[in-house]
Amino acid sequence: MQKRIDLNLLKYLERRRSMVDRALKRWIPGENEFPREVHKAMRYSLFAGGKRIRPILTLAAAEAVGGRAADVLPAACSLELIHTYSLIHDDLPAMDNDDLRRGKPTSHKIFGEALAILAGDALLTEAFHLLTRADLMKNVSPRRRLQATCQIARAAGSLGMVGGQVMDILSEGKEMERHLLEYIHSHKTGALITASVCAGAIAGGAAARQYKALNGYGEKLGLAFQIIDDLLDVQGDVSKLGKAVRKDNIQKKATYPALLGISSSHRLAESLVEEALACIESFNQRANPLREIAQFILKRTN
Ligand code: IPE
Ligand code: IPE
Ligand code: MG
Ligand code: MG
Ligand code: MG
Repeated sequence: MQKRIDLNLLKYLERRRSMVDRALKRWIPGENEFPREVHKAMRYSLFAGGKRIRPILTLAAAEAVGGRAADVLPAACSLELIHTYSLIHDDLPAMDNDDLRRGKPTSHKIFGEALAILAGDALLTEAFHLLTRADLMKNVSPRRRLQATCQIARAAGSLGMVGGQVMDILSEGKEMERHLLEYIHSHKTGALITASVCAGAIAGGAAARQYKALNGYGEKLGLAFQIIDDLLDVQGDVSKLGKAVRKDNIQKKATYPALLGISSSHRLAESLVEEALACIESFNQRANPLREIAQFILKRTN
């Protein structure tokens, strides 16, 4: 497999990342807002780094259906807020107990567990504030905004990401079967990635057929993303990943490499990406960023 990542894609991702970062900086309460401690903690994790894959998918999905990235930017940012909250809570001692995230000490290491929990809670809530602010997303119809918000809420909760996290924790040290492993990965990670694509599709004005295709793309990509995350835990480099490696095995986590081995897991991720690409085959060149992001997910080293 060709591992090199195309320079144009890297430039595209960089441009999109800074678009998202500028918007987040503007829309999230400043560090000097009272109570400063929680706003500091929220911004600490949010601006620690991070690929911004979820918001970038939202923008790219909107463009793939003929919408404008700027029009859906608040929805894109809301997904990064929810994702960052999920990471802060995922790292807590009661969950994965990690000390390093996005190349920096985890939130609870800096601010203590109570503030880390509260910063996560606030990021989650702020996401829905951003989605429902009357002064934002004026070019998206109220009906579409409501639909996107509904999807994101469902994907973040106990039938989505939280459900996946619950089964991830309850499955530690247990014998794993393929069906449950797929549930865990497609929920703890896949649900928010799918919602990122779908929110962009809805807010960007997708027709029913386009929406269905993009939903399929998101589901395949989301599962592939977490399989690669598992592989990076085994094969990756802490300095590139900015988080601890070789921990899944120690914590007896349910992972694809543990169940299928490394090369079968790689092959599975590759075939899921192929399936994701097939879902959007009929789209025109406006979907090219989505196509390239799918390939990038296989090659990523962080
Ligand atoms: C890490 O997500 C946690 C998973 C859900 C796999 P990312 O790999 O997108 O992490 P950041 O946002 O770039 O830090
Ligand atoms: C995390 O899965 C999924 C969520 C945060 C929802 P992992 O626990 O594998 O993510 P990392 O490896 O800590 O980033
Ligand atoms: Mg975890
Ligand atoms: Mg973790
Ligand atoms: Mg992991």
